[in-house]
Amino acid sequence: VTPARFLAACRRQPVDRPPVWIMRQAGRYLPEYRETRERAGSFLALCRSPELAAEVTLQPIRRFGFDAAIIFSDILLPLAPMGVSFAFPDEGGPRIERALRAPDQWRALHPPADEAGTAFVAEAIARVRAALSPETALIGFCGAPWTLASYLVEGGTSRDHTAVKAALLAQPEAFSRLLATLADAMATYLMQQVKAGAQAVQIFDSWAGSLGPADYARTVVPALRTLLERLEPAGVPRILYLGGSAHLLPHVADLPCEVIGVDWRTSLSGAAAATGKAVQGNFDPAYLLAPTGAVCRSATAMLADAPPLGYVANLGHGILPGTPLESVSAFIAAVRGTA
Ligand code: CP3
Repeated sequence: VTPARFLAACRRQPVDRPPVWIMRQAGRYLPEYRETRERAGSFLALCRSPELAAEVTLQPIRRFGFDAAIIFSDILLPLAPMGVSFAFPDEGGPRIERALRAPDQWRALHPPADEAGTAFVAEAIARVRAALSPETALIGFCGAPWTLASYLVEGGTSRDHTAVKAALLAQPEAFSRLLATLADAMATYLMQQVKAGAQAVQIFDSWAGSLGPADYARTVVPALRTLLERLEPAGVPRILYLGGSAHLLPHVADLPCEVIGVDWRTSLSGAAAATGKAVQGNFDPAYLLAPTGAVCRSATAMLADAPPLGYVANLGHGILPGTPLESVSAFIAAVRGTA
């Protein structure tokens, strides 16, 4: 076995085959996840129990032997010690209790005084690392400032992002300070995860593509730079996941990160050429709902477009709850060349 094939690919070092993991790999498509979530009582209770969060993090590794585990949590959890209240209802995604629409609400948001409010994540990471074999890497993560701001201002998942875009336009300076505050808090949070045993970090800017290139470059990229620079001393690969972002890639090419994650709307070869970085992605999660023969053919086409050096196979977004387990096996077999 190649030791931590995933970490080598992030650093654009040669590997015997592309490493593979799947965003939301611990989730409702897995029967063992549904069983543990039931036992925890709620999604938030599952996230906040180091024992159960570690257990569900390991479930997809046991079943599929992925090259990396990602700690089980959610991007909203580190906002709780900053004074934000939220809930995860069964349908429709997370809800922020009082959407942060006005600049004085943004100013009231402060990075937490200490790391106690997210200690459960550190403890879960330590448990997972102790249980994993050396060839499986452990990834820590956080939400990117823009994606977190979109949840805070919209109050939940949004299709059009009208409230957060209007806020950015109406109050550009206060909004930039909000992004800087989030960058500061997330840098501390990711350093806490690395200290606990995370060997790589992923920053999820799922809603990056909702902004045009000029606004992204002017307003969002400076906050990402602050966050990524703060992580430099950690010495771990930094993965920046950008949803729907083909038009943004020239503007992130000089950010201090090792890997760019893209979805199916962006080609892997294009992302590698535009950024000079390792790339991760980009299989359409909806394609896993097709018959396994079609999954295999489409995964082979994805691999043919991947750069020879610096490639991590993944989906382009989180796996869908109704995904058949056979589709996941077919996808992994195609990457491993055992299909
Ligand atoms: O990848 C993993 O396996 C690690 C766990 C993880 C979760 N959320 C667990 C989760 C990660 C990395 C996230 C990140 C996250 N959370 C993002 C960024 C990635 C993305 O999907 O764009 C975002 C935007 C969120 C916010 C969020 N949390 C949404 C929109 C939802 C609802 C979606 C859904 O499937 O219901 C959640 C809930 C959530 N986070 C679930 C899981 C497993 C489902 C909760 C359940 O068990 O019912």
